Amino acid sequence: MTSICCIGAGYVGGPTMAKISQKCPDISVTVVDTNADRIAAWQGDDLPVYEPGLLDVVRESRDRNLFFSTDIESAIGAADIIFICVNTPTKTYGIGAHRAADLRYLESCARQIAAVADSDKIVVEKSTLPVRTAESLKRILDAAQGAARFQVLSNPEFLAEGSAMEDLENPDRVLIGGERTPEAAAALQTVADIYARWVPRERIITTNLWSSELSKLAANAFLAQRISSINAISALCEATGADVDEVAFAIGTDRRIGPRFLKASIGFGGSCFQKDILNLVYLCEFFGLNEVAAYWEQVVIMNDYQKQRFSHRIVRTLFNTISGKRIAILGFAFKKDTNDTRESSAIYVCRDLLAEDAKLHIHDPRVAPARIRTDLGVTEEDPSVAVASDPYEAAAGADAIVILTEWDAFRVDQLDYERIFKMMRKPAFLFDGRNVVDLDRVRQIGFEAFGVGKG
Ligand code: NAD
Ligand code: UGA
Repeated sequence: MTSICCIGAGYVGGPTMAKISQKCPDISVTVVDTNADRIAAWQGDDLPVYEPGLLDVVRESRDRNLFFSTDIESAIGAADIIFICVNTPTKTYGIGAHRAADLRYLESCARQIAAVADSDKIVVEKSTLPVRTAESLKRILDAAQGAARFQVLSNPEFLAEGSAMEDLENPDRVLIGGERTPEAAAALQTVADIYARWVPRERIITTNLWSSELSKLAANAFLAQRISSINAISALCEATGADVDEVAFAIGTDRRIGPRFLKASIGFGGSCFQKDILNLVYLCEFFGLNEVAAYWEQVVIMNDYQKQRFSHRIVRTLFNTISGKRIAILGFAFKKDTNDTRESSAIYVCRDLLAEDAKLHIHDPRVAPARIRTDLGVTEEDPSVAVASDPYEAAAGADAIVILTEWDAFRVDQLDYERIFKMMRKPAFLFDGRNVVDLDRVRQIGFEAFGVGKG
């Protein structure tokens, strides 16, 4: 029986390994992590990651051929293939601070594999990494004292949170990069054969190591660039009376542009877009490509501008003061269908409003109250932030409601906006940072309503 070990039981490691174990019942998959609480949660029904459909897939293979463990050494020892799925956040200290990727978790995995392995292993980079990281990984592994030999591959993950199970079931492509040696080619074939159990062969792309590593950063940069581009246009829409949804529809019908990923918003959040673009910027600067670095950095600058523009608009509209005013926040996750708040635009908007002395009543269907307070740096006793268990509780007595995540539950056909309107202080304002609400309908109820990119 082939044995896989996945190091890192997070948003990528958990769902990806659940899918592989579901599709390959003859392969034993063990997901390990240093975080014992996370591992314990994967063993129960309250998974640490919320993804539609994930629990069913986990239940199907858990304790059959899918295992979660903190015994990292044993799992590495038993594995033929090791997927590294650890976090690679932006460095907060020293050289490259606030730009470069922090590779300490990756390096500690490499050293642990080198120390423990006593048989040949295929080591797969699934984490998103700076181009040429595989070189360092290989040097650390090859310095191991034992007889084990290692083949290093790059197999970046392209799933998006909220649709992870669908993306894994039906990926646009699977990308695997490897060295051009017979041993690496054989390793690459082994990993490709696993995906080929359910992914059509023509969607499994193979490249050299560096193309694979760089393609992941480039893909995220291109995706984020589309959002910053439409958000830049949204500012002009607000100034001119054009409607950004209409503009996005009109330009998206050109097949060279395409309709997807053109939704104006309060900016992209999530753990990857900003981190990966900053990583790309750092790499470009490192190679002396300053114009290229500045070009990509502008995508992040535009994203920061968009978040701030939205909070400024709220303050301006509420008669230039929100001091002591109650504001209902609907949605805190960085997008719908996830409990993840990393780099959520909601955090930045809420912080701006708190800095203006507002009182926030926040509701999100999936984010835990403790997570919200930690992200905003407040304690449970702090009177400026309350967490509400439903949108009505959040809206009672509020001057404004502000939608920050596009949860389906906030759409006009799902939420009783007439009831909400009646509960609020008048004039009642609605700011939709995600354009999920039909503004004309809520204006008929009596709201003064504003969307992103709508004059
Ligand atoms: P995460 O923080 O949710 O999970 C990473 C896990 O690795 C954590 O649970 C952490 O405890 C564990 N870990 C760190 N060092 C370890 C070690 N030495 N030994 C054992 N466990 C260790 O991160 P994530 O969102 O799953 O992202 C992981 C990687 O995948 C990142 O490089 C990210 O850029 C990339 N990625 C993420 C997504 C996404 O949607 N989240 C999509 C594609 C790629
Ligand atoms: C993104 C990519 O879409 C994945 O392909 C990639 O694997 C992943 O990053 C990664 O490397 O981590 P993710 O961040 O999970 O996935 O979610 P997205 O759907 O890309 O959304 C990112 C942010 O952009 C969200 O805040 C979302 O609300 C925002 N967004 C997205 C918009 O504002 N407008 C859009 O049209 C699309």
